[in-house]
Amino acid sequence: MDLPIRPRRNRRTEAIRGLVRETELTAAHLIYPLFLHAGTADQPIDSMPGCTRWSLAGLVKEAGEAHALGIPAIVLFPAISDKLKTKDAREAWNAKGLVPKAIAALKKAHPTLTVITDVALDPYNTDGHDGLVADDGRILNDETVAALVKQALCHATAGADIVAPSDMMDGRVAALRSALDKAGFQDVAIMSYTAKYASAYYGPFRGALDSAPKFGDKKTYQMDYANAREALREASLDEAEGADIMMVKPAVPYLDVIYRLRQHSPLPVAAYHVSGEYLMIKAAAASGWLDEKKIVLETLTSIRRAGADMILTYFAKDVATWQSEGR
Ligand code: PBG
Repeated sequence: MDLPIRPRRNRRTEAIRGLVRETELTAAHLIYPLFLHAGTADQPIDSMPGCTRWSLAGLVKEAGEAHALGIPAIVLFPAISDKLKTKDAREAWNAKGLVPKAIAALKKAHPTLTVITDVALDPYNTDGHDGLVADDGRILNDETVAALVKQALCHATAGADIVAPSDMMDGRVAALRSALDKAGFQDVAIMSYTAKYASAYYGPFRGALDSAPKFGDKKTYQMDYANAREALREASLDEAEGADIMMVKPAVPYLDVIYRLRQHSPLPVAAYHVSGEYLMIKAAAASGWLDEKKIVLETLTSIRRAGADMILTYFAKDVATWQSEGR
């Protein structure tokens, strides 16, 4: 054939493929979500095979191993004992609570590890909702924001580097920024869950924390999965309110939203590859239907290709381990 343009020339060897590769996935792009509880035993999580509810000692060890493999940051998710759950979620800002204790221990053991905390009330209130619930079942926006401010200040005081509000209340980024600044925490960053969708992919996570809503669903605050333009509206607000990083969640079913946010804003974009996405791969790999490592690398690279600067993933340590072994 008389064919001067042959794109296959750029795919001929691994060396050339490496030279023309547009997207890299390395441990430096990954944030490792870790579950913790007040017990002294590390418990396997039934709803999320391969994940663990860590004791404080186990958490510090696991975070240290991940960090040594090149993972820059972890994000904490606490399982709070039923005895401490209340209607007003006040355990969420207890300075002697599980999360502040864990932050302090992590920063002491691993000063260069970036510690991110989840700011939302669902692990702490008896309703299992991210916000405070009125007697008639409505989720109260402004009252919740006031509670989130107390929670974020508690985390910052304990040494958190980044607070990550995952609640989807209106106005919470501005309120957190202003309260953090007033308290002298100008350097504590906000990673906002900008476009968090009301998603069935969170099911296994709620099992891990025993944090499923006791009634109704989260559709009055989390976004409708049919909407993408609305994510740009949330992004403009978060940017104006002072968010440092925007997040899209879940990741793979929302690659178009990641792409749109990347085009729309100069802010860094994070994507959360959530529990249901993790489990779909785990289940397929466990039945021998898919090659876990290959699927994970292809999937996470596609999230980067769509425009995510960083990815929160339960596979973070696996990826870092494969890369450290040159696999
Ligand atoms: C709640 C929160 C959820 C997740 C992270 N923070 C669950 C929810 O909104 O119901 C889900 C993470 C996952 O599924 O991996 N504040």
